[in-house]
Amino acid sequence: MSTSSSVLVTGGAGYIGSHTVIELLNSNQNVVIIDNLYNSSFEAVRRIETITGKKVTFYKVDILDKKALLQVFNQHPEISSVIHFAGLKAVGESTKIPLDYYHNNITGTITLLQAMKEVGIKNIVFSSSATVYGDPPVIPIPETSPIGSTNPYGRTKQFIESIIRDLCTANPDWNAALLRYFNPAGAHPSGILGENPLGVPNNLMPFLSQVAIGKREYLSVFGQDYPTRDGTAIRDYIHVVDLAKGHLAALKKLDDQPGCVEYNLGTGQGSTVLEMVQAFSKAVGRDLPYKIMDRRPGDVTNLTANPTKANTELDWKAEIDLDTTCASLWNWQSKNPNGLEDCPGDAPPELVIKYI
Ligand code: NAD
Ligand code: UFG
Repeated sequence: MSTSSSVLVTGGAGYIGSHTVIELLNSNQNVVIIDNLYNSSFEAVRRIETITGKKVTFYKVDILDKKALLQVFNQHPEISSVIHFAGLKAVGESTKIPLDYYHNNITGTITLLQAMKEVGIKNIVFSSSATVYGDPPVIPIPETSPIGSTNPYGRTKQFIESIIRDLCTANPDWNAALLRYFNPAGAHPSGILGENPLGVPNNLMPFLSQVAIGKREYLSVFGQDYPTRDGTAIRDYIHVVDLAKGHLAALKKLDDQPGCVEYNLGTGQGSTVLEMVQAFSKAVGRDLPYKIMDRRPGDVTNLTANPTKANTELDWKAEIDLDTTCASLWNWQSKNPNGLEDCPGDAPPELVIKYI
């Protein structure tokens, strides 16, 4: 990418997007963020500016709004690639409102791809998920593992992967990196940016950190009858800054014009739920209360990445250990007990572009 070009980051005010924008700015790349702020706050954009010391170009835009997307592309003809984070992401919620998930994630992505096609932008990095592997037959999971998600959210990722792959096949000058994230955790080392879940957190680490801060009484551990070392399910927890850096590596890879490529972004190390409780308790300095409950429907035993392909082809490797990940989460949670909730969250009206 030339120094005068820009990367459009959709969903750049969200958890993974905001950390990725910081890494892009720190490596002197120009960034344009769009986000409809449905699950995030404009305060995240202000905090990116504080951390990097750089002014951020942001527009409040919905990816379903093609006219607004085209306006952004026309205002920024220097945009040469897109990192596409924008989407709904709660597995449980997706089973209750599947149409909203299919519309926002799939129609939204098709609208984005159509707008890119109209203006001739042909490089995209897409946020996929380890959930596309369903219940995998082999651990650690290689990219060649069979695809078959067990929930509507995961199916949106699976379908979008196919759509992007078909687009690249039909148009060999397009390039795409489909990044299958394992479980992002932790927060920015500054302590002023991290995950900002609205309402009751669905995911393990944000819930556990709300137990630690006193907002929740105890953690419900979903199932202790899995065939694992302590009976609880295994996941591959990757620090969000390591994950963010994986996007820069993937973007660089697109310069080689690889066509459509998939990569697992994980550490290769699995941890059980109880091991995570122990690791986070250590960061907090006291034992955190938990109760063993029934399994959560739809959960699988083990999602641990085989990250060899990303390690070798992208020259990228997760480097941050679990203790540092837990310490960064506690640093963020203890300094911001309410996340970004207490800050004014909406974008100034001059940054809103809306036609739908
Ligand atoms: P997030 O909710 O913090 O960020 C997503 C952002 O997209 C939010 O800021 C939201 O406001 C925005 N958005 C949603 N719909 C939009 C729309 N129609 N138009 C414009 N903006 C829209 O989530 P995250 O954890 O940062 O996840 C980013 C991406 O990574 C998502 O696509 C998610 O599915 C994927 N992913 C996340 C995880 C995880 O555990 N966090 C794991 C695997 C994949
Ligand atoms: N868990 C608990 N108690 C909780 C929350 C979670 O015991 O309160 C357990 C779950 O049962 C699971 C593990 O902790 O065994 C991790 O659960 P998360 O909800 O944190 O994460 P998932 O692995 O279910 O899913 C996450 C994201 C998906 C993404 C996937 C990739 O939510 O979007 O990681 O592995 F696709």
